Amino acid sequence: MDIPIHDVLLVGGGAAGLRAAIAAAEADSGLNVAVVSKVYPMRSHTVSAEGGAAAVMREYDNLDLHSFDTIRGSDYLADQDVVEAFVKEAQDESIQLEHWGCPWSRDEDGRVSVRAFGGMSVKRTLYAADKTGFHMLHALFQTSLKYNAVTRYDEWFVTSLLVDDGRVCGVTALNMRSGGIHAIGAKTVIICTGGGGKIFPFTTNAAIKNGDGMALAYRIGCPLKDMEFVQYHPTGLPGTGILMTEASRGEGGYLVNNKGERYLSEYIPGKMELGPRDILSRAFMYEMREGRVFDGPYGNYVHLDLRHLGEKVIDEKLPFVRELARNYVGIDPVQEPIPVRPVVHYMMGGVHTDINGATPVPGLYAAGEAACVSLNGANRLGSNSLTECLVFGARAGAVAAEYANSREAPGPDTLENLTRDERRRIEQTYLQPRNGRERVADIRTEMQAAMERGAGIFRDEETMKETCETLKNLQERFRNVGLDDTSSVFNTELTAALELGFMLDAAEALAHAALDRKESRGSHSRSDFEDRDDEEYLKHSLTYRTEAGPRTEYLPVTITRWQPEERKY
Ligand code: FUM
Repeated sequence: MDIPIHDVLLVGGGAAGLRAAIAAAEADSGLNVAVVSKVYPMRSHTVSAEGGAAAVMREYDNLDLHSFDTIRGSDYLADQDVVEAFVKEAQDESIQLEHWGCPWSRDEDGRVSVRAFGGMSVKRTLYAADKTGFHMLHALFQTSLKYNAVTRYDEWFVTSLLVDDGRVCGVTALNMRSGGIHAIGAKTVIICTGGGGKIFPFTTNAAIKNGDGMALAYRIGCPLKDMEFVQYHPTGLPGTGILMTEASRGEGGYLVNNKGERYLSEYIPGKMELGPRDILSRAFMYEMREGRVFDGPYGNYVHLDLRHLGEKVIDEKLPFVRELARNYVGIDPVQEPIPVRPVVHYMMGGVHTDINGATPVPGLYAAGEAACVSLNGANRLGSNSLTECLVFGARAGAVAAEYANSREAPGPDTLENLTRDERRRIEQTYLQPRNGRERVADIRTEMQAAMERGAGIFRDEETMKETCETLKNLQERFRNVGLDDTSSVFNTELTAALELGFMLDAAEALAHAALDRKESRGSHSRSDFEDRDDEEYLKHSLTYRTEAGPRTEYLPVTITRWQPEERKY
């Protein structure tokens, strides 16, 4: 097979990936852009985003206030130059998306509607009912179809990044339909594969979110940044983890304990249900310790009560919440409160990039949840991530295009040689009949349990050390994994094994970064170090992969205009 070679290659077809592809195609119509995705782009996890996308759109709002909210929400770990660029470009990107066909919900007077969201001082979250991600992704996908320069590799699973002479020069990818492992050459690669919530047992994340892009970059020496910060969303359905959007609370929903109390008055009276996610998730845990939560077949929960909003508002603003609650817990929120509990939702950490999405590895870029551009610090505000995908997807696409224009294309012989090694690795490791005793599902279950135990809402030295040790052992056992299915066509056992390899790497980086941060900040809450320690830890962690295990270094936080202070609401 001839090896295809592209100027800009996107890995991932969600909001960040498609926005980057459009930006690269627009930057230079002569460029050859490709999107490779393990799922058809409209099945990317963006499609399930519900509540909205933040941008300053109203006269009562301003960029400084959006910046301040984001920085305070991040517990002062966000890089402030990044935040300032973000809030400014979020406006243009939201309007651009409207012009590309995103049907934002509208007020009576024709203006785009905005709703309240957690940690935001004013209403600034644009939405399309509670199916915002679906509509945004649709607008991006349709727009990407306009560009002949954009080639797609749908249902191709990237197994490794190819590096020649210290530079990224493409990827190897499994064509899931044929089973072939091929090189796809590229002058630049942009990772937009989303987060890795599936390293935990209970998450809002789709089954495809396995930290693929994080591990791909980590394996070639690129550091992962701020991996210790994991966001629990306060309102997921027990059992499945399906998201009951924060928009439910933005529209006025209450959280109520088993005493019938709106218990947040005890923890964050100034904001109540519109407090940031880290604080609300911890409040649930405190209520649980006090025995003020309900007990159900899938563990403890509290009530999300929407009844007072009335059927008309629920149907107009939260139709998906009603549909999901009816289908998955048999409850109609018009008549009854919905059981909810905190659930892993988002990773603030990811592939270390600068403000334009460039990583320290020449030719490699990243954007969206897979990346850590340092917008979200220790805790992201709900609705900042959809606009983050737009703003930093666009930036990464534009700078990668510029870089591609200054580089020679990689040679086919080099690509083929590098790919031969990867093909052999996969065939020998996974595709010999019954070649190992360990099962994918066993290792995955043990990894998830260890992550929940050691890297959950509350953490301490002892359990984190145990988690690190367990992960090390699981890495060992993973070397001895065997598959029952050695066939070629849509071998989902093979992709599950490859995903497990990615998850183990991301999980190890996360657990070690968490162990090394001896303070509490944002979502990283340590029972043994309860206070934030700016003296020692006002810095980003950078985790490197080494033979001996993850190694942590640190990087200063960029402060422009907002000096760190106590985080108060
Ligand atoms: O609750 C939600 O709709 C989630 C939004 C987000 O994570 O930004």
